[in-house]
Amino acid sequence: MMPDRNFHLMQLDSNSAASTGIIIRPMALDDLAQVVAIDQMSFSLPWPAHSFRYEVLDNEVSRQWVAEMQYAGPDTNLARTQADPDRKTSEVVGMIVVWLILDEAHIATIAVHPQYRRLGIGRKLLLTALHECVAQGASTATLEVRERNLIAIDMYRKFGFEVVGRRKRYYNDTNEDAILMTLDTKGLNSLIARIGG
Ligand SMILES: CC(C)(COP(=O)(O)OP(=O)(O)OC[C@H]1O[C@@H](n2cnc3c(N)ncnc32)[C@H](O)[C@@H]1OP(=O)(O)O)[C@@H](O)C(=O)NCCC(=O)NCCS
Repeated sequence: MMPDRNFHLMQLDSNSAASTGIIIRPMALDDLAQVVAIDQMSFSLPWPAHSFRYEVLDNEVSRQWVAEMQYAGPDTNLARTQADPDRKTSEVVGMIVVWLILDEAHIATIAVHPQYRRLGIGRKLLLTALHECVAQGASTATLEVRERNLIAIDMYRKFGFEVVGRRKRYYNDTNEDAILMTLDTKGLNSLIARIGG
């Protein structure tokens, strides 16, 4: 069943007096609990928590960003503040990890919190990551995706990624094949030209 976009938008609004929008920013150690939670809600084989820590602290080829939903503040409604003193002013709702190896940007993982999907956040994360990686020397982008993950495949195709191969029974929980997709230099340059690099 297709998620109802309006339902999600209503949920966004009900989360705060006024949600002020999404920013994409580098992942920080403080984000890891939320990042791990999103990963666990999104994948049947989630990464262990220490993997994200390794990405942020130690992996020199790793670049990571989060999507942060920012809510309006400070809250001037006294009744609401007293009722919920821990009311959030922001929340991590998506993440992407890319490995930049020489001139190749490999999308290692990307996920959006299930309640915030279909709002353009995944597209924004991928666009930011590719844009930044090109600025840092990438001339191609690659990824692997489960053959039945039609939603992700659709998103990648819209970015210009093309299927270049398949790894048989790559995912050992379902025995699904991995589809290998690439965005070549021409595709990457035309994407950057479109968004104004
Ligand atoms: C893939 C994922 C990151 C997309 O994030 P999102 O914020 O929901 O995506 P967006 O709203 O930015 O949509 C981008 C494109 O994805 C595709 N898409 C997203 N949701 C879709 C849906 N329910 N049905 C069909 N296509 C969909 C569309 O091509 C869409 O472009 P459009 O809005 O022009 O139609 C998200 O679905 C997710 O976290 N999935 C679980 C983790 C995962 O599979 N990651 C990919 C691993 S390879």
